[in-house]
Amino acid sequence: MKRIQYHQYGGPEVMRLEEFEPAPLGADEVLVRVRAAGVNPMDFGIRAGRMKMVTGRSFPRAMGYDFAGVVEAVGDRVTRLHVGDEVLGGPPMKSSGAFAEAVVVPEKRVVRKPANLSFEDAATLPTAGVTALQALITKGRLRPGQAVFVHSCLGAVGRSAVQIALAHRATVAGSCRDTARSEAAALGVDPVVDFDFEPASLAGRFDLVLDAGGKYSLPIKAARTMLKPGGGIVSVAPTPANLARSFLPGPYQVLVTQPVTEDIAEVARAAGQGTLRLPIARTVPLSQAIPALTELEQNGTAKRGKLIITP
Ligand SMILES: NC(=O)c1ccc[n+]([C@@H]2O[C@H](COP(=O)([O-])OP(=O)(O)OC[C@H]3O[C@@H](n4cnc5c(N)ncnc54)[C@H](OP(=O)(O)O)[C@@H]3O)[C@@H](O)[C@H]2O)c1
Repeated sequence: MKRIQYHQYGGPEVMRLEEFEPAPLGADEVLVRVRAAGVNPMDFGIRAGRMKMVTGRSFPRAMGYDFAGVVEAVGDRVTRLHVGDEVLGGPPMKSSGAFAEAVVVPEKRVVRKPANLSFEDAATLPTAGVTALQALITKGRLRPGQAVFVHSCLGAVGRSAVQIALAHRATVAGSCRDTARSEAAALGVDPVVDFDFEPASLAGRFDLVLDAGGKYSLPIKAARTMLKPGGGIVSVAPTPANLARSFLPGPYQVLVTQPVTEDIAEVARAAGQGTLRLPIARTVPLSQAIPALTELEQNGTAKRGKLIITP
């Protein structure tokens, strides 16, 4: 079988499409034949060695996190999933391995795929959907009728957050690139402002500010200006400085996404009900994925939707 892997941390040039043998199945693991894999900014960061503390120093290391596919084998203690089930999920960051023909994953990180969702659409969702859900609901405690501002509302996390917040009957405002404002408005974002908006124009209006900008984070002072009394700020950029700040008293929290089974299932359910979808910008076969990954990484962020890899 083939997968994209690398033999040292580094830039796009370290990626190789090579043969591999899937690891022997643990009792709580499933082997999934990958039908589609979704690309996230973190895939590049992990390969660059920015998560070395977690991912360690043994090579070759596999790449890729989000996948959808079909269960091909199950470990002895697996009870929820069966051979032939259509599923979606993500392996632990340490093993990764979704940009592959097959991947071994703990059962708890995999849920059934709704029948009306294609493998490609399903593979767009695990990381972005769960991150948005946990940022809004687990950390942000968003309630129906509240007002949320989503900074960077057309990225995968931001766009997921807009849809999840609207489904929770919150009102959603947000920021995006000036040229994409009509797209955000069509999603239900109102008002839509561009990335360089003036926070004072939105002073005191929001119960929750969700900063989905990652490396383009909103200054905390700007987010504070926009809060109602008692409102909260949730960032999805867990840098050491942001994590340290989140321990100080005040409204600022940082999310490190936890791939909890119930939350992956909730994201899958929302997608099956049609309330959560992410656009796909481009689908490439595994044999052409390295040039596509390289181009995406060098162009900065995903434009017009997800890059999907199909073995
Ligand atoms: N905390 C966690 O555990 C966790 C989990 C998942 C993701 N994340 C992080 O969340 C961030 C977003 O992820 P994603 O999957 O949504 O990425 P994405 O799909 O690539 O979206 C990034 C967005 O940033 C926008 N952007 C570009 N320039 C900007 C600016 N100056 N100000 C604000 N936004 C700007 C892009 O807009 P254009 O397309 O118009 O350029 C794009 O919509 C990443 O940093 C990712 O690493 C964190």
